[in-house]
Amino acid sequence: MTQDWVLILGANSDMATATARRFAQAGYNIQLASRNTEELIKEAENLNVKYGVEVRTFFFDALDFDSHAAFYANLNAKPSGVIVAFGLLGDQQAAQHDFTIAKSIIDTNYSGAVSILEIIAEDFERRRWGFIVGISSVAGDRGRKSNYLYGSAKAGFSAYLSGLRHRLFATGVSVLTVKPGFVATKMTAGLDLPEKLTATPQEVAEKIFVGVKKKKNTLYVKPVWRLIMTIIIHLPECIFKRTKL
Ligand SMILES: NC(=O)c1ccc[n+]([C@@H]2O[C@H](COP(=O)([O-])OP(=O)(O)OC[C@H]3O[C@@H](n4cnc5c(N)ncnc54)[C@H](OP(=O)(O)O)[C@@H]3O)[C@@H](O)[C@H]2O)c1
Repeated sequence: MTQDWVLILGANSDMATATARRFAQAGYNIQLASRNTEELIKEAENLNVKYGVEVRTFFFDALDFDSHAAFYANLNAKPSGVIVAFGLLGDQQAAQHDFTIAKSIIDTNYSGAVSILEIIAEDFERRRWGFIVGISSVAGDRGRKSNYLYGSAKAGFSAYLSGLRHRLFATGVSVLTVKPGFVATKMTAGLDLPEKLTATPQEVAEKIFVGVKKKKNTLYVKPVWRLIMTIIIHLPECIFKRTKL
């Protein structure tokens, strides 16, 4: 059993719940943070009973940038690692007509993550250890008409994580970019996802846990997604423009 804590931001996400369970199973104490604290409290009890670890819950709103410094300062213990799981797919069509909706997609997936991670990175950099995991998306690998607002925010987040990894490398702090591909969660409920390309939250959790232990840089949960995205990235623009992706 370790005294280490793992902070999970957006902890009600299905991937986050599975990842919290994986780290709790390995003996980590868990800090669950999100907006819906009632749900967090239920999961905290579950983790505590099942794995015998300490679990604390915190209110956290990725969009309330001004609260982020106090949120981190007030944690009961500074975590060994942080996992940024919050995100918002949003409605691309609606966002094309309403910038308020577009802004919530951009701010949830990009600005909110940058705001809290800059605070945490400074602490980890000073003490010279820790791990940071950001759940980004293959949607960020190339902008497509079906979801380019979400995709561009995730592209920004992937580039941000790449820069953060570069900055923190010399201090021993690792930064893992996760590109899950399709995952069966609340976010994708109702979408008709191809079974072979769709991971479970538990598969994501296992890949994250192993990725952290091996200090990996970037991972595609189902390796076939690396191939798919390599093809999509390399499609010449004159062909890409004509696809229905
Ligand atoms: N599902 C997929 O196919 C897929 C694929 C690629 C990447 N991803 C990414 O993977 C991550 C997890 O996704 P998921 O599918 O597990 O999503 P999910 O089950 O829909 O959960 C998303 C979570 O984000 C939290 N959230 C949203 N806005 C927030 C805010 N302002 N402040 C704090 N938390 C906020 C919500 O928690 P509260 O409502 O409790 O605050 C919610 O539990 C996301 O970053 C998503 O973009 C998902």
